[in-house]
Amino acid sequence: MTAHQDRQDRQDRQEHQGRQEQQEHGDTSLTRVEGPDKVTGRARYATDHHPAGTAYAWLVTASLARGVVDAVEDADALADPAVLAVITHRNAERLAPTDDPTLAVLQSARIAHHGQPVALVVAETPEAARAGARALRISCTREPHDVLLTADHPGLYTPEEANGGYPAERARGDFDNAYRTAPHQVDATYHLPPLHNHPMEPHAATAVWDGGRLTVYDASQGSGNSQENLSKLFGLRAEEILVVSEHVGGGFGSKGTTRAPTVLAALAARAVGRPVQLCLARAQLADLVGHRSPTVQRVRIGADTTGRISALAHEVATRSSTLREFVEQAAVPARMMYAAPHSRTVHRVARLDVPTPSWMRAPGECPGMFALESAMDELALACGLDPVELRIRNEPAFDPDSGKPFSSRRLVECLREGARRFGWADRDPRPGVRRDGRLLLGTGVAASTYPVLVGPATAEAHARPDGSFLLRVNATDIGTGARTALVRIAADALRVAPGRVELRIGRSDLPKAPLAGGSSGTASWGWAVHRACEELRTALAEHGGRPPSDGLTRHADTAEEVGSTGQEYARHAFGAQFAEVQVDQDTAEVRVRRLLGVFAAGRVINPLAARSQLTGAMIMGLSMALLEHSTTDPSFGGHVERDLAAYHVAAHADVTAVDAHWIDDPDPHLNPMGSKGIGELGIVGTAAAISNAVHHATGIRVRELPIRPESLIGR
Ligand code: MOS
Repeated sequence: MTAHQDRQDRQDRQEHQGRQEQQEHGDTSLTRVEGPDKVTGRARYATDHHPAGTAYAWLVTASLARGVVDAVEDADALADPAVLAVITHRNAERLAPTDDPTLAVLQSARIAHHGQPVALVVAETPEAARAGARALRISCTREPHDVLLTADHPGLYTPEEANGGYPAERARGDFDNAYRTAPHQVDATYHLPPLHNHPMEPHAATAVWDGGRLTVYDASQGSGNSQENLSKLFGLRAEEILVVSEHVGGGFGSKGTTRAPTVLAALAARAVGRPVQLCLARAQLADLVGHRSPTVQRVRIGADTTGRISALAHEVATRSSTLREFVEQAAVPARMMYAAPHSRTVHRVARLDVPTPSWMRAPGECPGMFALESAMDELALACGLDPVELRIRNEPAFDPDSGKPFSSRRLVECLREGARRFGWADRDPRPGVRRDGRLLLGTGVAASTYPVLVGPATAEAHARPDGSFLLRVNATDIGTGARTALVRIAADALRVAPGRVELRIGRSDLPKAPLAGGSSGTASWGWAVHRACEELRTALAEHGGRPPSDGLTRHADTAEEVGSTGQEYARHAFGAQFAEVQVDQDTAEVRVRRLLGVFAAGRVINPLAARSQLTGAMIMGLSMALLEHSTTDPSFGGHVERDLAAYHVAAHADVTAVDAHWIDDPDPHLNPMGSKGIGELGIVGTAAAISNAVHHATGIRVRELPIRPESLIGR
């Protein structure tokens, strides 16, 4: 076969497969509307902008965990005529205070953590900037530091709130008494390491001042946030700042809040009077753009002889930096997952000399459900019950935390449908008895959940005389397919073919809308797009179906409707994940043979992209279970794994059969589309399903991720 024939053949096969998948999902899917722009290089990211005269910055960061910068000698660096400036806390312009101390860059001599910005070298080229950075001589006074989280760290305190505005502590009934008297008890403590997002596109910004006006091309999940933060820091009116985040190469939460490079680029551009571009090196991401905070989680469950849970406690210890309180809300899902009449959930946090943790895909739910769903597996064994059946038995009729009914909760259907598709029925529950040659085999299950979040948004729909439409909304597509989903929503509401809809997103001068985060983007932006299109369709009908010669425009603002819709319901998405693993009896290498997720996430808007989001998140969960791990450096603070050679993520060879399905989950209590978010749901529960399968294969319960050969050998 010639290379050409081979290529043709492969292409035919792929197209055939694509068509089959589309048929299976009853489809209607749109392929990425920005696909051609991305594959032809027309799509521009933050560092693809090089306005005339652009200078390039290199960031120098602290190499110790706590101390003071005494001096930065820059004479050697500045001796190179290509070096334009060395900016440190001594000469940087004073920024106005904000509520996010991580953005007060180069404002003080204090070093609060390893990797904190200490100096910025600006030069004609990135190479000259980097050479200039190497030529700096920085002296610091080192102070004693404290960077390691332990379950009994003396600095642990109970904050008022955990992230997301959830109360840090909740109790109902009398946990201690109910637990003490329960015939079946599980008391287990789980340890999760710090984890990093590592999007393909590092955090970067290109800043341009034009008189008093500032434009920033920003790698961000929400240009509106950056506009707001820059406005506070530089004392400008919002209209004086334009932030463009047209294409973003992944974020997973790490670009959900404004980051240091955005502020540094703006600050440097003003200092040198030229546009400035700053792109972080991958090694700098580990300490500067957040991480999933490590957690120590104790779960206690008491159940009666039939497996009904009477008592459930989930106690989380986590850490934050000295700069800012950030409390991973890992005990929150335990409040609503199961019908436990007596329950206590609490978060405690220690403020250490570490980089500030931040958002990482399904913050709270992802680490919390690893612990809870592992403990449920331990309980199933203690009670002699099938783990699917155990979960079904503890299904609550209403949200046990708020007392509200669920808007929809199809977890039991997900478990049953997943069990059917996976072939769970004839599972032998005994651990460590299945073999395929040298391989031990096992299967495991875990539940998924993620809250349905939504924010107010505005959008504008315009009908052109030629029959096409222009939609404007400041949504952000971080690679999820948000553009495509919005075109879909607009086309449906206008009742026209998607090809007639042009969409503009990713700029702060578009109608105001929230960031891409909390799996809330499509619901929030889509709601406003839907309403604007509905109004436009009505207006068009009044004009006899044709817009006047200058077109017709309608604007929507969902603030009121979002605030008053569905508040009487507990709103969450659900899912069930099933894993099959093999464990090599000699090397203890664990590989995932099959991963299946069945989800209930409201109406699925664009099946092709939804499937990609769900399987993508499951793969990230697989990665968390077996590979991902950051080590806090006890000597210098910060994280040891600073590149993708050391911070392992799942590669193609680690991912064999991963499949996501969903069940019909019409939910009228959410938004006009009936959709629940799908960006984060898929990572929740995956690691527990895999760990539970490892136990089934080996009889060894691993309570610390990732599961490595040394987790299993010698135990
Ligand atoms: Mo996501 S961690 O809410 O961007």
